[in-house]
Amino acid sequence: MPPIPVDLPLAVDRAAPVSLTVQLGDRLRAAIRGGTLTSGERLPSTRALARALAVSRTVVTEAYQQLYAEGWIEGRHGSGTYVADLDLSAHGPGSAHGPGSAHGPGSTRGQGSTGGRGSTGGPDPAHGSGSGTARGAVPASAAGPGGPLIDLRPGRPWVRDYDEAAWRRAWRRAADLPPGDASDPYGLPRLREALAAHLRRTRGVPAGPENVMVTRGTGNGLDLLAATVLRPGGRAGVEDPGWRRARTILGARGAEIVPCPVDADGVLVDGLPEDLGLLYTTPAHQYPLGGRLPIARRERLLAWARRSGALLVEDDYDAEFRYDVAPLPALYGLDPERVVLLGTLSKSLSPDIGVGWLVASPDLLDAVARTREDLTDRTGGPAQQAVAVLLERGDLDRHLRRMRLEYARRRAALVAALGSRVTGDTAGLHVMVPLPEHRVGPLVEAARGRGVLLDTTDRHHHGRPGRHGLVIGYGSASLAQVRAGAAILARLLGPGLADEAE
Ligand SMILES: Cc1ncc(COP(=O)(O)O)c(C=O)c1O
Repeated sequence: MPPIPVDLPLAVDRAAPVSLTVQLGDRLRAAIRGGTLTSGERLPSTRALARALAVSRTVVTEAYQQLYAEGWIEGRHGSGTYVADLDLSAHGPGSAHGPGSAHGPGSTRGQGSTGGRGSTGGPDPAHGSGSGTARGAVPASAAGPGGPLIDLRPGRPWVRDYDEAAWRRAWRRAADLPPGDASDPYGLPRLREALAAHLRRTRGVPAGPENVMVTRGTGNGLDLLAATVLRPGGRAGVEDPGWRRARTILGARGAEIVPCPVDADGVLVDGLPEDLGLLYTTPAHQYPLGGRLPIARRERLLAWARRSGALLVEDDYDAEFRYDVAPLPALYGLDPERVVLLGTLSKSLSPDIGVGWLVASPDLLDAVARTREDLTDRTGGPAQQAVAVLLERGDLDRHLRRMRLEYARRRAALVAALGSRVTGDTAGLHVMVPLPEHRVGPLVEAARGRGVLLDTTDRHHHGRPGRHGLVIGYGSASLAQVRAGAAILARLLGPGLADEAE
């Protein structure tokens, strides 16, 4: 006899700006974390819970599917849905966040692991080892035979589709205000408020304005944080392969850079040193391999950070763009004391605006603000006013919805042309195609000869490249260009086998 389902004291709020599915998912997660629901307990059927909450069955089904994908719950054939077998010890005693799933069965279920594809090799023939080609500096030889260039390198968003009227209105409003006589190191209160609401709505991040500092972008936020928390010569972990600029910024602040290996799901927790001052990580969409850190690994990462005392720096750079998968909770939401979240408009709107955010506990935010004042570092007032208008009027949300569709089409075109070769495609503005080392250089050259510019994983490694393949961006090329570039690439790659890179 299956156990009787628990009678869940849950409620959802129809007036809330968050969807019923997200609300229900949040309530269930909180109930599991808080111990109201424990491992092995049976959840009500979707029909029963839908009836109890007076919501449609789809709402409950989707919430359950999301929790299932994250590893919180599991289905037992023919006998219902149960809270997964979660390891309660991962959080340590006294944790405000309750039990977590460090090793629970199904903890990586639904995350699409592609397994290790590592091999060793030399420098990147396309960009040279280490330095990399500046995006603007396209070599003359890159022009296709008579055709225009198709730039499929990652890093840039599409900035041509924007609502001109909304853009002008935002800047007119900003220009209506007189110049300020001093800048607030935390940023404009109005924008902090709007950003906190935006993050709650779009990322489920439990932040108020007291948690938000307006920065000039992710790089600026990371720099301010490093200047605040790193001791001279302190050790800073950075994903390897990972965002080169993070290494540069942390190194420039005197940190000893510690490369931390990643696999297809994201940063590897086992083996992380216990003496890091901070760890820079990209859990929503690992840069550049594209993994989404599974919930169980997020919990273990937090457990490591609590144990070792390291600060986790979560770069949420392109988390707004997600395809065919439900969102995973930001690390910050799982432990706001241990995590600093960095966000930016560089991907969602334009890198030219120079506005981003740093989300942290109020105490840490105060310390960063003091550093900022000492460094006379600031975000320009008019840009903050304009972004506040875009947020308050819902223009940014509308822009994001439009761009999500547009990027989804481009990503679909790439996947259609390249098939199962593509990995890391569930989020962001780039995908990866793993390849054996010897194929990468000739392929990049051949593509360049046909007018298609590509990036490679090797360029993003700290030392000796361990993973090889192409990093294909679809942010700055049009849908037609992505289709054309993907067709050229598919021909160059040949039929191949899905597991060619093994
Ligand atoms: C991994 C990663 N994080 C963040 C950013 C954005 O940085 P910023 O906000 O400083 O422009 C980028 C841009 O290319 C990136 O690749």
